[in-house]
Amino acid sequence: MKEIVYMDAAASWLKPQSVIESQVGFLTKNYANAGRGICARAGMVDKLIADSRRTVAEFINADVDKIVFTSGATDSLNRVVNILSSQPWYAEMSTFAVSDLDHHSARLPWENLLHEGKIRKEFVCELDEDFNIKIDSVPKVDFLIITAMSNVLGYKQNVKEIINAARLKNPNVITVVDASQYIVHEKIDVKDWDCDFLCFSGHKIGSDTGIGVLYIKDADKYYPDKFGGGMINKVITGEKSQWILYSSPEKFEAGTLPLTQIIGLQKAVENLSNWDGGHDLINYMYDELSKISKIKILTNRDACMLSFVIEDMHVLDFGALVGTYNICLRVGNMCATWIHKKLNIDGSIRISVGPWNTMDDAKYVVDVIKKLVK
Ligand SMILES: Cc1ncc(COP(=O)(O)O)c(C=O)c1O
Repeated sequence: MKEIVYMDAAASWLKPQSVIESQVGFLTKNYANAGRGICARAGMVDKLIADSRRTVAEFINADVDKIVFTSGATDSLNRVVNILSSQPWYAEMSTFAVSDLDHHSARLPWENLLHEGKIRKEFVCELDEDFNIKIDSVPKVDFLIITAMSNVLGYKQNVKEIINAARLKNPNVITVVDASQYIVHEKIDVKDWDCDFLCFSGHKIGSDTGIGVLYIKDADKYYPDKFGGGMINKVITGEKSQWILYSSPEKFEAGTLPLTQIIGLQKAVENLSNWDGGHDLINYMYDELSKISKIKILTNRDACMLSFVIEDMHVLDFGALVGTYNICLRVGNMCATWIHKKLNIDGSIRISVGPWNTMDDAKYVVDVIKKLVK
C-alpha cells in the first residue's frame, strides 16, 4: 500500500520546507517579541514582521498599512462583523446579503447579529445554474458578503462585477470578501476589486495555523474592536482614562502577534507562486471518475477541486473506506451547509491537491475508488 496520499489541500496545506526552516530559524536563533523592545533582537523581529506584511500586501496588491494579522480566516471574518457593528454609525445600517456559497465562518457571524436583533434583514443572492452569483440578483444592502470561491465547488466568482453591481444599488455598501479558497488558486488584486474587507487563512497556502489576514481598505476610518498592548500610542490616566491609538495596522493588532507564524507566512506566499495549481491531476481524476456510473460529480472539470457523491454509499462510509488505503480526502458538509442544501444532499466528498501530489497519487486514488465503487 502507498504511504499516506494527502489530497485535502483545501482543508489545510502541507508545509513547504522554506516555511518550516524560517520558523525554526526564528525560534532557535532570533526569537524576541515584536513592537515592544529597543534591543537589537527586537528590532530585527520588527523587521521580519514588516517584511512579511510587505510580502502579503504585494501578494494582493494592497497598501501595507491595510494588512492586519489575525489568527485565521474565521477570526478575520468575525472581526469584520465586530469592527463594523461597533462603529458609531452602525445603528443606521440594517441589511446584509450572503449567498449559498458561503462557509459557516463567513455567514454565521452575520446571522448571529440577526439573532441578537442587531441587524434587521438578511438577503440571499441568487445563484445561476452554474452556481455563479447572479449579478442582477445582487440586492440593495448595507453589507455584502462574497465567497470568492466555494470550498465545495472550487471555481471563481466574478467578484469585481458583483461589487460593481452592489455599488450601483447602494454606493455606500460595505463589501466583505472571503478569499480563503480563491487565494490558493488565483491572483487577487484588492485595488481592482475595490472590496472593503478581504479575509484568508495562512494555513491553506502553506503557512502554520494560527495566522490569518484581514485587509481593510479604509483602515483609518474604523475604530478597533480589541484593546491591549501594542496598539495604543499613549494612555492619559485619570478618573476615566483617555488614549491615543496608533494608526493601522497596529491599532487592530492588540496583544502579542503570532510571530513565528507571520514569519512562516512570508515564505508560504513566496512558495505559492511556484505552483501550477495541480489542474492536470484534477482533470485526470475528473475524467476517470466520470466513467463510474454510480459517481455523481458536483464540480466542473476546470474547477480547482473535485467534489462528488456516490449512489448508495454514505460519504462518511466512503471516507472511512478510502482511509484504509491511506488516502486522506475530505468528506462531510465542509462547513458549507447551504450549498449542500441547494444541491439536495447532506454532504459530499472532496479531493483537493497541492504541490506534493503526483500523477502517481492521482492514479492510485482513482484505482482505489474504482475498486470501492463498482
Ligand atoms: C471558503 C472558506 N472560508 C472560510 C474558511 C475558514 O478558514 P479557517 O478555518 O482557517 O478559519 C474556510 C476553511 O475551510 C473556507 O474554505
